[in-house]
Parts: sequence; structure tokens; C-alpha cells
Amino acid sequence: MKRPIGVFDSGIGGLSILKALRAELPHEDFVYVADSGHAPYGERNDAHVINRSSAITAHLLTLYNIQALVIACNTATAAAIATLRLAHPQLPIIGVEPALKPALALSQTRRIGVMATRGTLGSAKFGALVASLAGEAEFSCQPCDGLADAIERQNAPNIEALCTYYTGAMGRFGINIGEIDTLVLGCTHYPFVSDALRKSVGPNVQLIDTGEAVARQTRRQLPEHCGTDSVGTCRLLCTGDPNALQHAAERWLRLDQPVNSLLL
Ligand code: DGL
Repeated sequence: MKRPIGVFDSGIGGLSILKALRAELPHEDFVYVADSGHAPYGERNDAHVINRSSAITAHLLTLYNIQALVIACNTATAAAIATLRLAHPQLPIIGVEPALKPALALSQTRRIGVMATRGTLGSAKFGALVASLAGEAEFSCQPCDGLADAIERQNAPNIEALCTYYTGAMGRFGINIGEIDTLVLGCTHYPFVSDALRKSVGPNVQLIDTGEAVARQTRRQLPEHCGTDSVGTCRLLCTGDPNALQHAAERWLRLDQPVNSLLL
């Protein structure tokens, strides 16, 4: 019996990770939970994010017998991955974190911008990551309150205004000395607004997200590999308004299927 891979985020952002997972593991089955009834995570306290992450993981294990869990959310990874690993030592759990090291490998100016939620940037995990790279580059870290929510609601004028405002607050972008030449998208919602970000930072700045790296890491950690004779399925669950997830999955992943409401 094929066991699916569980994937969750506070909302539609984790679809950017699911997209990469499906490309890397086309024969695997996935169950995706968008916890939009309890979002955004990035502006809530750790206890809220840990409780939600624990409830979703327990649900995915009990109802779907998942073989691995991908936390497709930087904020939930920072707040809850240690708790989840402690509670489920047999379950491979893959998290996401802002891609500072890949950015460092690419940056010429050694000035790197990091956009993420307040929760991610304020976490001990992120603090330790930055400290481990001290002296290697200057990181300009920008909490982006409201941006994940605007993406959830597909509010185009707000998305554009917030992208312009937050990139403007980070400093000058470009490829000359003293300019930020690499921008880390440290929230899984942000790859879906890369066009608006590109408009603000110009054509030469590199935008970095983590989807493909997380998908490769998941492949390495899978305890079971299914055969290659069937195409993988994808089940979509949502604790909030199912329409947002359904439209986003259709638009970004070409996944045309109903979303099931989840009371959790
Ligand atoms: N997509 C989530 C992340 O990667 C956060 C969005 C939210 O604030 O809920 O951090």
C-alpha cells in the first residue's frame, strides 16, 4: 500500500514547495494541508504555531499514515520542527529555512537581502544561522508583515505596494559594490509574487527560493520509494476558505480538483 507524503503550510504558500516536490517525485502521492483558518503564522506567537503544527501532523499520521512530512513553511519550521521531531522520532521531517548559504555562494557584492515573516526572522533558529555566517556577507533582513496575507487574498494592489515598500526599506539593489545583488525569499508565499519583486529590484538581482533544494532533500529522506508505473495523486485539504487554495492550485500547479474542508 502506497503511503503519501504530508505537506503543510499556513495557507497557499507551501504550494511553491509542493510544485517542486511533484516535479522531483512525480510518482509519489501527496496530502497538502493549508491551515488558512489559523493564518498567518508569521505574526502569531510560537505557542500558536507549535499547536497548529502538532495538530496537523497528528491528523496526517492518523488519517493518512504519511511516510514523511514536509513543513512547507519557514515560520513553522523555525517554531515547531524540534517539537515535532521529538514527538515523532520515526517520521522523517523535512523543513525549510531561508536560503542564506546558497545566496552566499552566488552573491558578488556580499550584500544579501532576506525577506521573511517576523516569526522567522525573530526565531532562535534563524539567529543561529546568521551567526554561523557572520563576517561572510552583510544580510539585510526585512520582516514583511501583511505580505503573506495579501498573497493569500490575491490582493494585487496590496501585493505591489508591499513589495515596493519592503524592498525599498532594505537598501539599494543592483550588481555594483555596496548594492544588494541577491534576494532570499524566506517565506514560501513569496515565490508567487516574484514578478512584483522583480519590478522593484530590477533585472540583475538574483531571487532565491528553496523549493528545489527541499524536494531533493525529501527524496533523500524518503523511507519508501514507490514504483514508476503510476502517476502520483495529490489531495488538498484546507481549514479556511477552500476557494483560495483551489484557485491557487489551479493557477500555479495546474491541479484542477476539489479542495476538502478540514475541521481541526
Ligand atoms: N508561508 C509561511 C512561511 O514560509 C508563512 C506565512 C504566514 O505568515 O502565515 O513562513
